[in-house]
Amino acid sequence: MGWSSWNTYRVHISDSLIVRQAKAMVSTGLKAKGYQFINVDDGYFGHRDAQGFMQPHPTRFPKGMKAVADSIHALGLKAGLYSDAGRVTCGSIWDKDSIGIGAGLYGHEEIDAEQYFRNWGYDFIKIDYCGATQELDLPEEPRYRAIKQAIDKVAGRPIDINVCRWAYPGTWVTDVATSWRISGDIAPKWGSVMTIINKNRFLSAYAKNGHYNDMDMLEIGRGLTPDEEQTHFGMWCIMSSPLLIGCDLTTIPASSLALLKNERLIALNQDSLALQPEVVWRKGEAYVFAKDFRQRNGNTRVTAFYNATNKPFTFSVPLSTFCLAGKTKLTDIVSGKKLRATSDSIIATVAPHATLFLQLEAKQRLEPTHYEAEWAFLPLFDDLGKRSKPVSYQDVEGASGGAVIKNVGGSKENLARWNEVYSKEGGNYRIDIRYYPRKDSQLHLHVNGQPVSLSGSVQTQGQPQTISATIKLRPGNNTIEMNSPYTWTPDIDCFDLTKM
Ligand code: GLA
Repeated sequence: MGWSSWNTYRVHISDSLIVRQAKAMVSTGLKAKGYQFINVDDGYFGHRDAQGFMQPHPTRFPKGMKAVADSIHALGLKAGLYSDAGRVTCGSIWDKDSIGIGAGLYGHEEIDAEQYFRNWGYDFIKIDYCGATQELDLPEEPRYRAIKQAIDKVAGRPIDINVCRWAYPGTWVTDVATSWRISGDIAPKWGSVMTIINKNRFLSAYAKNGHYNDMDMLEIGRGLTPDEEQTHFGMWCIMSSPLLIGCDLTTIPASSLALLKNERLIALNQDSLALQPEVVWRKGEAYVFAKDFRQRNGNTRVTAFYNATNKPFTFSVPLSTFCLAGKTKLTDIVSGKKLRATSDSIIATVAPHATLFLQLEAKQRLEPTHYEAEWAFLPLFDDLGKRSKPVSYQDVEGASGGAVIKNVGGSKENLARWNEVYSKEGGNYRIDIRYYPRKDSQLHLHVNGQPVSLSGSVQTQGQPQTISATIKLRPGNNTIEMNSPYTWTPDIDCFDLTKM
């Protein structure tokens, strides 16, 4: 949680501007709500001295970068910086800020780490990829690993790293970064907010244990409508994204400030479970997301009824969709108001572009029986668009949850894994796997690492099918894997479990 200079100021920043924003972080009461980082994005670079050490921009940062970090720290906040994995920064390309040429980390990994973290005292770095893609065409994984290694070697303390490759870069990123951008740059427009939520709905399996999908800096206070702002902030909160405010804190509208300080929304984001919700229900562009809150498999869950359409939408969602039953108390998370309890369905009309965030406290938590393909962890998944026939999540009309996984198979490693298949007491279950047939495909099933035989071979053409097996689950979490080491698998849609 914090603030970053880019959305409002681009490269037109200065030492006094940054310190002013840091002070406003305290005076607006945002610091007291948990916002702590003040991040200097692109635009502070000057020249490299004779030894190669980066110097601050001569006119924008005459007081120097250490003085800025010191002022931020003196306010009880943390300080962040920006760089690029290549030789040139994005600003030097897109904003014609030619001073950023040669400012990137490429060839200066250790010396920059020494300057930024030891000499200047910054705590966080966002590492962009403009120079590394456009100028040098470097592969992402080795490049970011090398930078991380240099930072670890030189910094002398843990530094938070943000990988800014504008797409989910691959599962290796958890070793390198505490957060990673999943999309191109956000804009203060509804279409942009919607696109980012849409991308992130497939990425819940990749966020955990202090490593998060970064939905980009917030555009709150920058002209979206109140409903859109609520969707934007609330979805960033429930999806456990970093929350980096992007507006001018000294002129922020009161309603936007109040939203950013909403403790109940912030609690969704800062929950110690650190989960990202999954889509549990969908009709066209109306989605219901849900996740556990405070306790795994407990009776309390949080949910977002997200209306991405341009018309009011009436949701009618059975409680069983949330694996809850019995009398269930509903709280509107934004207002804190208690709503009428229910024991069957949640019915709510949500305005266009708006989202209703609800906390559900049920009498009973049911064992989950339904798992979507789009919740699976795919070890070889990335969204870089570099490979032909990459393993991916794809929207398919008529599919359960609206999507399937495609291009699983062809190697032992290219599998789909559900890590948290929960059984309360363990025992024998029937698994029914729904799939879309694919030419020359096969399907192999493993439960907790052990192969399980299916009731037959999968169909390789025609309509969606179901194939079954009897499996044994142990009490607690189980792992289910589907793959095919030498051929493709069919396009997997979902599976259901029935206790025998
Ligand atoms: C890229 C990043 C932005 C910002 C700019 C700076 O576009 O994605 O968030 O950091 O570079 O030039």
